[in-house]
This record gives sequence, structure tokens and C-alpha cells, in this order.
Amino acid sequence: MEFQEAVRRRRMVRHFSSDPVSKETVDTILELAQHAPSAGFSQGSAYVVVTDPEIKKKVARVQGEEDYRAGGFHAWISEAPVAIVACVSEKLYHDRYNEPDKLDEDGKEIGWPTPYWFFDIGAGCMIMLLAAVDAGLSAAFTGVFDVRGMKDLLGIPPHFHPVGVVSIGKGMKDVKSPSLKRGRRKPADVVHYDRW
Ligand SMILES: Cc1cc2nc3c(=O)[nH]c(=O)nc-3n(C[C@H](O)[C@H](O)[C@H](O)COP(=O)(O)O)c2cc1C
Repeated sequence: MEFQEAVRRRRMVRHFSSDPVSKETVDTILELAQHAPSAGFSQGSAYVVVTDPEIKKKVARVQGEEDYRAGGFHAWISEAPVAIVACVSEKLYHDRYNEPDKLDEDGKEIGWPTPYWFFDIGAGCMIMLLAAVDAGLSAAFTGVFDVRGMKDLLGIPPHFHPVGVVSIGKGMKDVKSPSLKRGRRKPADVVHYDRW
């Protein structure tokens, strides 16, 4: 699939069939995610792939699937054959930026104008969302709100932070998010040339 087509087709799909996704496809999606850039090549992202239906149900519970269902949505987190829990470790960035080539002029760690670890896990998730479309599948991202619950459920190490769940499978006609009524902003409101 052409890159532009994959980008334009991608949307958060919130209903999946029970058709399985092959391990090969999941491996490709994750291998591509590892090509995401990372600050200082810190590579602080990690992924927990959940396909076991019972564990996936528990992931869905932690993600508040019941509340989505009560709001008229399908049970898309438990019904998608694959749930990838995207995690990132801030600690690995501090470790990397305390290596000699990354210290500032005063020999100190940089002031972190932006928490790059969240930028980087976003880049990894974006690749997975697009790789799913490229594989003829659909995907959706849900943010993790119950961080403690997700860590306990999946045995995520203390310094890793679960950011969200990427659900992947064969997409079905779903219930659209009411957020979409906002419409896409006009390019002129978003893009500024030479000066804001
Ligand atoms: C950081 C982030 C967090 C999101 N969290 C949720 C979420 O918790 N639940 C959900 O249903 N959608 C979530 N979304 C999906 C957005 O609602 C969706 O991307 C937006 O409405 C635009 O729709 P589209 O991605 O289908 O184009 C999230 C998206 C992003 C980028």
C-alpha cells in the first residue's frame, strides 16, 4: 500500500471481527515499531503483546471497556484478537542522557524541554497504527488511565509506564467517536509559513 493511502485510511476503529491475526503479521508490526526514532537512540519503549483471551479481557477491564459499552460502543478492546500495551521508561532516557556524549556544557543532564520519552512512544504507536492498515487490518488506541492496575496485571517493571493499548484486528462497521464531529482543522489554522 502506498504511504499516503495508509495515512489517509487510518482511523481509530472501535469494532473488530474475531478473525485471528497471524503471529507473522504481529511480529512485522512490532519490528516496524522498533524503527521509530528515539531521542539519543535511547530506545526506552517496550511492548506487551496480549492475545490470550482471558488476559485480554482483564486488559479491557482495566481500560474501562464497560464504560465504553455503556456509552453505546462495541467491546472493541476484548474483541480485537491482539492488544499491544505500549510502555516507556523515563529512566532509560535519564541513563542515556547521563552518558558523556549527551551531557551539557556544564557536564549536567539536559533540562528536558519536552519529555521525549512520551514523544518516542507516540512515534512507536503511530508506526503500529499505520502498519496495521498496511497489513489490511484496523487498529485503535486507548490511553491507560489506571496505570497501577495495568502494571500489576501484566507485571510491567517499576520504571516502565504503560501509556496506551493498541488494539489490532479486522475492522468492522463501528460506532464513531463523537469527537469527530469537531471536524478536521483547516490547514491555514495549523500550518504557518516563515512566521506564526
Ligand atoms: C494520545 C491519544 C489518546 C487517545 N485516547 C483514546 C481513548 O482513551 N479512547 C478512545 O476511544 N480513543 C482515544 N484516542 C483516539 C482519538 O479519539 C482519535 O484519534 C481522534 O478522535 C481522531 O480520530 P481518528 O484517529 O479516527 O482519525 C486517543 C488518541 C490519542 C492520539
